[in-house]
Amino acid sequence: MEVVNVMEYQAIAKKKLPKMVYDYYASGAEDEWSLRENRHAFSRILFRPRILIDVSNIEMTTTLLGFKISMPIMIAPTAMQKMAHPDGEYATARAASAAGTIMTLSSWATSSVEEVASTGPGIRFFQLYVYKDRKVVAQLVRRAERAGFKAIALTVDTPRLGRREDDIRNRFTLPPYLSLKNFEGLDLGTIDQTADSGLASYVAGQIDRSLSWKDVKWLQTITDLPILVKGVLTAEDTRIAIQNGAAGIIVSNHGARQLDYVPATIIALEEVAKAAQGRVPVFLDGGVRRGTDVFKALALGASGIFIGRPVLFSLAAEGEAGVRKVLQMLRDEFELTMALNGCRSLKEITRNHIITEADQLRMGSRL
Ligand code: GLV
Repeated sequence: MEVVNVMEYQAIAKKKLPKMVYDYYASGAEDEWSLRENRHAFSRILFRPRILIDVSNIEMTTTLLGFKISMPIMIAPTAMQKMAHPDGEYATARAASAAGTIMTLSSWATSSVEEVASTGPGIRFFQLYVYKDRKVVAQLVRRAERAGFKAIALTVDTPRLGRREDDIRNRFTLPPYLSLKNFEGLDLGTIDQTADSGLASYVAGQIDRSLSWKDVKWLQTITDLPILVKGVLTAEDTRIAIQNGAAGIIVSNHGARQLDYVPATIIALEEVAKAAQGRVPVFLDGGVRRGTDVFKALALGASGIFIGRPVLFSLAAEGEAGVRKVLQMLRDEFELTMALNGCRSLKEITRNHIITEADQLRMGSRL
């Protein structure tokens, strides 16, 4: 069957992947309320399109943190991509660079920073988990720098792993023929099978629960790379992140895999963007499956968005070609959304092009 939208890859991946792998990618935390809400919240935002504007030329290139990319659609870090497809992170890196956009490599990738760099040129960010052993972190950041990675996306929402019940039931662990390649040789590259989620135990053993703002400062003493704070959901933390030297903010609830009952990221975005006051760019991940979602995020103040699960599912279905297709479908849908809203460039996308549920409540009407 021909795939005509990003969401259709999920069912294909579900059929193709071992249950333990599919469940790990697909799961959210606990009741999965936030997982559903990341999607549903987009559907409660409607457009206020402007008409009779010449849209014969649509420009969607943008410059983010000084890097020119072909569209404001980038790839979020997702762990262990070789479980999805033998080419794993290589395929994702190649697809991102073919599309002229940024890939973020997970700390927990099944390919190392050097291996990903060896796939060829491309703008890449590195997602960082802070291990208890800071020597490991310092070494990894240095390796990412040397491999040409351009920014660090520091995950700040995972002092402990969220409770993903499928992983507990499946006794999730990394298949033995794979390893967390960045940590191979440090004796931290494997995940032991435990009586619940092997990954949750790994995190409890290795990841630093004491991580705090002073570590954001510390990170700046060991690298000159810009640091994006990934996992911000409030205005308060946005202001503190900027005070502590963040070069950008990623509004993220970790694909709804950490704390359940946090708002959808598209709902949290506006308060974060307002608090940032344009001092640093604000990005969003979580639930983006349509070009209309991308438009809505930009209208609410995002400079760009990241996609996570669509990459995993398309990778599982069709390898590099699948990831390329996902990026192309989102690009085409976003371009169409811009045209039908009367926007010729990203800067023409305004808050007035959308109406949120909160706007409607303020105006005394409901959908
Ligand atoms: C990895 O970051 C995960 O959420 O499983």
